Amino acid sequence: MSISIIGAGNMAKGLATRFANAGHPVTLASRDEAKADAAAREVGNGVSSASLASAAQSADIVVLAVPFDAAGNVIEAAGGFAGKIVIDITNPMKADFSGLSIGHTTSAAEEIQKRAPQAKVVKAFNTIFAQVLQNNGQAAGRPATVFIAGDDEAARAAVAELARSAGFETLETGPLATARYLEPAAALNITLGYGLGHGTDIAPTWQRAA
Ligand SMILES: NC(=O)c1ccc[n+]([C@@H]2O[C@H](COP(=O)([O-])OP(=O)(O)OC[C@H]3O[C@@H](n4cnc5c(N)ncnc54)[C@H](OP(=O)(O)O)[C@@H]3O)[C@@H](O)[C@H]2O)c1
Repeated sequence: MSISIIGAGNMAKGLATRFANAGHPVTLASRDEAKADAAAREVGNGVSSASLASAAQSADIVVLAVPFDAAGNVIEAAGGFAGKIVIDITNPMKADFSGLSIGHTTSAAEEIQKRAPQAKVVKAFNTIFAQVLQNNGQAAGRPATVFIAGDDEAARAAVAELARSAGFETLETGPLATARYLEPAAALNITLGYGLGHGTDIAPTWQRAA
């Protein structure tokens, strides 16, 4: 599976590391090509950089690793991601981290799907701290769980396969609208990690029989 990650920050580099270690071809792209290039060199392991348009065209799966507020511009600049699986990792936190800017009746993922109607948007990785990605995808010594929401069953399955190949546990949560639950879960994770002193070696999971 070829993966293009849009962004050159902490999550972009962390996901690039995990996916490249699993043997997937990974390309980084950003609004600033020099930053994408520097990030690709920092990650190493065969990760390359490209322009936004070329990264969007060449990949089976595109990851949006930018702030939620930037997603619309990125989608437009990349030409809409028609036909692509687009992984939305964003958490629409308010600037002061006092809460989510949207929710209950919609989610960042659903708003991104509206901006990219011909893409197959899948919510995933939003409940995992960048530090966990840098720690082999493990929190407290165990593989973190990637929760996966999306309306396209095959796209959900492809993202689950990608996450498992990179060493994560996975749990599909159903349609994209279940991102309305996953985004508050991430906000709780941030509250626990940064607000209540549990640190970043944590990740939500779901105890279940199978
Ligand atoms: N950090 C975490 O632990 C974590 C966990 C789960 C989910 N997330 C989500 O992951 C996403 C990325 O977070 P991060 O921690 O990787 O952030 P980050 O380190 O600040 O990186 C953000 C990236 O987005 C780019 N960007 C910012 N504004 C942009 C705009 N208006 N147009 C185009 N690109 C823009 C930045 O480019 P420049 O360098 O040019 O500004 C940078 O490459 C966010 O949506 C966040 O909610 C983060």
